[in-house]
Amino acid sequence: MSSVDAHDTQHTIPTFLIIFGITGDLSRRKLLLALWHLYRNGLLPPQFRIIGFSRREFSNEAFATFVREALADIFTSADAKLVQNFLNLFSYRQGHFDVKERYVALGEYIKSLERAHHSPANKLFYLAISPSHYEIALQNLHDSGITKHEHSAYPARILIEKPFGKDIHTARALDEKLSALFKEEQIYRIDHYLAKEMIQNILHFRFSNFIFESLWNTAGIEKVHIQLMETLGMEGRGKFYSDTGALRDVGQNHLLQMLAMIAMDNPEKSDALHIRAKRAHILSKLRPVENLSRDVVRGQYEGFVLGDDIESDAQTETYFKIRAFLDTPAWKGVPFILESGKRMRQKIAHIVVYFKRSQHALCATTDSRNCQNTLTFTLQPQEEISIQFWAKKPGLSNEVEPRTLRFSYREDTPLSHLPDAYERVLYDCLNGDQTLFAGTDEVLSAWRFITPIIEAWHAEPLHTYGQGTDGPESESFDAYA
Ligand code: BG6
Repeated sequence: MSSVDAHDTQHTIPTFLIIFGITGDLSRRKLLLALWHLYRNGLLPPQFRIIGFSRREFSNEAFATFVREALADIFTSADAKLVQNFLNLFSYRQGHFDVKERYVALGEYIKSLERAHHSPANKLFYLAISPSHYEIALQNLHDSGITKHEHSAYPARILIEKPFGKDIHTARALDEKLSALFKEEQIYRIDHYLAKEMIQNILHFRFSNFIFESLWNTAGIEKVHIQLMETLGMEGRGKFYSDTGALRDVGQNHLLQMLAMIAMDNPEKSDALHIRAKRAHILSKLRPVENLSRDVVRGQYEGFVLGDDIESDAQTETYFKIRAFLDTPAWKGVPFILESGKRMRQKIAHIVVYFKRSQHALCATTDSRNCQNTLTFTLQPQEEISIQFWAKKPGLSNEVEPRTLRFSYREDTPLSHLPDAYERVLYDCLNGDQTLFAGTDEVLSAWRFITPIIEAWHAEPLHTYGQGTDGPESESFDAYA
């Protein structure tokens, strides 16, 4: 999907990646590591610089030490010269996100680097900051003139992390702000699930394998179960999470994007315009949930309210399960079960497609799955695709039993390093490819579906569930599914 030509022409001039909130959790856990992998694999553009912008005071040298410490585990086995060259890419400027003068000073610094390179630069601004600072940061970026690009062939790009707003109203306001200040081709809304190898593979798998094509609709599919279960809890994010909740944190974005990849029509062309349009189209077909007590379960793990920075009476959900439907002829009556939780029994992210059972199966089986075929795309803990089918038990009986055809990305590919989603996010943005970033229509359609649930579900019970379990019991829901 990335264009090599675009890559070449853009990279005849320097490229500066400016990371706001570079000392924060996302940067330490994901971005620095992704940058290192891209660097080590020779995938960063020539004349590349990374400028950190955060509230903490650091000299350039102290900041290099910060990066070195953040990646200490990785660097122990790396070539020392390579590490030093990587660290040399970084510099740091201190600033509060709401103080315009600091943006002006940052702009001066960027200009001084451009003078040193004898060239205007491509500039990418990555907002790895709290969403509560987005509006002011965007306004200041614009007003300080840093994002103007009269001297550069390529307009500045803005990378912005989810959540985009808290509901349809705030998302629309943020969107209006973004589109008043920047053009759509400058805006890269990150949903790192879209950049996961297995999620990209869903489209390739679906549209390269004829054997599934005719079954990929209500005639062939009984239901689809999309799960993102985590064993982790808050990990120091209690304040953010208790204000956000699971549905906004991963439901509005990651799970609905997984649904879009499963249900979207063939984009016919493998480019950003076509793929984003088809994702947006299918998300716009989500039917509003009519009956919350039947179609939605929300839960909170025991002990959640004892966590740091969490109010003792917080009603935040750490688990949800939703039965969604799409109003299209192809998907009529097919439930899409969206389920996610923290502190669950196992870490698993996968999509299981349950096919309809054969009307005239010859099989005799005592297995409750009763000759149902499933196709599973697993993202975590290991990327794999598996198909469950039924075969006769070897021997004299006529009984059938389930068997699995399995393809594991890690075991069956020669790649020693599968790129992490954030490598893909950064790489594609550096190359100006918006395919794996959410467009405004997708984001708004997703909020249109989620907002009525969030606004009404406080009237429904908040079930508690034990840590390390599979979530709350929800018999009525399961019976219906
Ligand atoms: C993030 C959420 O977007 O996704 C986290 O904010 C969640 O709460 C994470 O843990 C899951 O991503 P991954 O890539 O670890 O599955």
